[in-house]
Amino acid sequence: MKLTDLRGILQYIPQFREKIFILAMDGAIVTDDNFATLMLDVALLWSLNIRVVLVHGASAQIRSLAEGQQVQVSDLDGGGITDAATLDLALTAANRLTHEILEGLSANDLRAANANVIVAHPVGILQGVDHLFTGKVERVDVDLLNSLLAQGVIPVIPPLGFDGDGKTYRVNSDGVAVAVAAQLKAIKLIFVTPKDGLIHKGELISQMLVSEVSRLVQQDPGGFEPEMVSKAQHATAACAAGVPRVHVINGTLDEGLLGEVFSNHGLGTLIYANEYEHIRSAKKKDVRAIQLLIKQAVEADELLKRSKAMIEKSLGDYFIFEIDKNPVACVALHTYPEENKGELACLYVSSSHENQGIGRKLIQFAENRARELGLKELVLLSTQAFTYFQSKGGFAEGTADDLPPARRERYEQSGRNSKVLAKKLG
Ligand SMILES: CC(C)(COP(=O)(O)OP(=O)(O)OC[C@H]1O[C@@H](n2cnc3c(N)ncnc32)[C@H](O)[C@@H]1OP(=O)(O)O)[C@@H](O)C(=O)NCCC(=O)NCCS
Repeated sequence: MKLTDLRGILQYIPQFREKIFILAMDGAIVTDDNFATLMLDVALLWSLNIRVVLVHGASAQIRSLAEGQQVQVSDLDGGGITDAATLDLALTAANRLTHEILEGLSANDLRAANANVIVAHPVGILQGVDHLFTGKVERVDVDLLNSLLAQGVIPVIPPLGFDGDGKTYRVNSDGVAVAVAAQLKAIKLIFVTPKDGLIHKGELISQMLVSEVSRLVQQDPGGFEPEMVSKAQHATAACAAGVPRVHVINGTLDEGLLGEVFSNHGLGTLIYANEYEHIRSAKKKDVRAIQLLIKQAVEADELLKRSKAMIEKSLGDYFIFEIDKNPVACVALHTYPEENKGELACLYVSSSHENQGIGRKLIQFAENRARELGLKELVLLSTQAFTYFQSKGGFAEGTADDLPPARRERYEQSGRNSKVLAKKLG
């Protein structure tokens, strides 16, 4: 290991200390060659005072048990109908898997326990069809989970739920993971799968706002691989329930888990919630970061060069979009109160984060702020992105007359010949 890797990891420690991560493993991962490494990684997280809760599925094992015993299963993942024979296989598969996880954890000197914390009730009859032993998570026994964690015990949760009468139901493990993550106020839910992450139309999504994932799931579910639609839906549900970050990673890769948790550019998919939470006012220490961020666009003549003094002079106008404390985009809103106008400027999204709606979020943010300040119109100057502002931001082409006089003078002197765009704020 390089020292720089260690430093890279250490910078995350304060924000993760004593926080809860939910690791939701597909059953197929438990029997994979990389499982032992994954358990070692869990031990590393635990040693850094990160509280880990493991949830697991069992579909792959139910399928292989069914094939071995030549039983016809009614459903694999706890989303459809679970008949008595399938429940029987699910119990065998889930117990075996929980046991293997407990073995893997104790091999790393970790204390762990099979946690019976899912209170379920039957899904019941849906559109005339009785779903028999398929259950729905009604409640998570948070007290039991918290007391296990407080005693240094890693809870391992199978995809099974129990009702008050002691009856067992098969529940979907992704749904269990979301419920547990939400109720324990986990800061991360990590789906550990045999796939590289969420792939849409053949392309891996490396980071995306939850609202964009939700839009893709609703408008184009066929673009995802069938087995990943559930992950995308549950990731959306988790963010909606207050989990700030959901990851989908490939658990068969050596560095899949640590690479994702301790870097800004993991190998899998990061879905993050609450977009405005990522926008903050720039501070004096950000001036250099803004200059570095926009350097490429300045060189390409997309943005005006801004000196340190220029930015500092109107620092209060600048906003930064951060992901995991790294600035990935910025925008400025300069105000001309006498004319009741605002100028949107210095919009830049780093190339690694383009096409995820961040630009639109920043435009929306600047607009909202301009409205709050009582401004009636937003103007901007653009040399190469004017069609973007027209089609994605609702701006219309204007003329130099739309600019406040002080701004117009500088515009005419600059010789950049940018297009003027304007938008009335309702
Ligand atoms: C223009 C810019 C801010 C867009 O940011 P972004 O976060 O990638 O944009 P969004 O995710 O909100 O929107 C992406 C959409 O805009 C389109 N788009 C991106 N840049 C564009 C441009 N220069 N012209 C026209 N359309 C553009 C994309 O093709 C995509 O279209 P789709 O949704 O139909 O697939 C970013 O590319 C950038 O920083 N460019 C360089 C700096 C610049 O020109 N800034 C504006 C000067 S004030």
